[in-house]
Amino acid sequence: MNEIVQDLERIRSQFLSDLDALQTSKELEDLRIAYLGKKGMLTSVLKGMGKLSKEERPAVGKLANEVRELLNDRLDEVKQRLLDQELEKQLQSEVIDVTIPGIRPPRGAAHPIEQTIDLICRVFVGMGYTIAEGPEVELVANNFDRLNIPASHPSRDEGDTFYITDQVCLRTQTSPVQIRVLEKQEPPIRIVCPGKVYRPDTPDATHSPIFHQIEGLVVDRGVSMSDLVGTLKLFARELFGENTEIRLRPHHFPFTEPSCEVDVTCWKCGGKGCSTCKGEGFVEVLGAGMVHPKVLSGTGIDPEEFSGFAFGIGVERTAMARFNIDDIRNLYENNMRFLMQFK
Ligand code: PHE
Repeated sequence: MNEIVQDLERIRSQFLSDLDALQTSKELEDLRIAYLGKKGMLTSVLKGMGKLSKEERPAVGKLANEVRELLNDRLDEVKQRLLDQELEKQLQSEVIDVTIPGIRPPRGAAHPIEQTIDLICRVFVGMGYTIAEGPEVELVANNFDRLNIPASHPSRDEGDTFYITDQVCLRTQTSPVQIRVLEKQEPPIRIVCPGKVYRPDTPDATHSPIFHQIEGLVVDRGVSMSDLVGTLKLFARELFGENTEIRLRPHHFPFTEPSCEVDVTCWKCGGKGCSTCKGEGFVEVLGAGMVHPKVLSGTGIDPEEFSGFAFGIGVERTAMARFNIDDIRNLYENNMRFLMQFK
């Protein structure tokens, strides 16, 4: 028998037993290359066909084609079977039960201080005010001098102000924003500015070295004290309820004249007198007054033509009142069990 025929028979039977041993589609690819690749066993045998005589060629050629077709057919068939098996395996190992309930991420909430700032700002935005901002690291000139606070004023002591240099401090109030706004904007001016302020106080139930204020400033022609009173009344009622009254007590701030401290009806006892208001029936929440002519002229605004009022609201006080919190330190301790009450 012809040598090539023998080779072809041998290749066929070896291929069939190799095929039986296959486990993976990767092995199958290797097998295809070993037989049918450029340097594969069958390929090399077929290359020898050229040496055959004319008589031998048709029969041997036919056999060669049969073997090649067999190899191709069987490889395709087994390949499909292996791929199906592999897919099935993968699907089983990666099975996902989409009906299992998910893990609900805990939902956060705005901090009570943030909620209070938001609420107060909304009340004033509703009255046509816009929100202004200023830096917490402020020039001593803006925090004191230009607000008509004399060099001798006790609030300027190192015990009452955090100084960074002689000329720079952490603002002790939001009032320097008045200066920044007056300098940049032409009247009519109507702004509120919420922000942090700093004072070297030892923390206790009512003091914290960092706290928040909301500054308010209105400057226009013909602004009077009665505009201030009307504005603050509306603010107090929006925040503490319809029956809230305000009480103005004469006070002194160097940057307003006249000046007052403003109390609101005690939210705890409704005015009868209790431990929260120390029997007063009222609780202080802000300072206010008519903008001092020197503050206006110092920023290039003619006090003969324009007048205005300003106020500074204590945010923590307001928050503690609204949410019935008795110790300011609760607001800064990041105790989730405490904070989650104000969702
Ligand atoms: N800045 C004052 C304070 O911190 C409050 C205030 C603001 C008073 C505006 C009058 C006008 O006490």
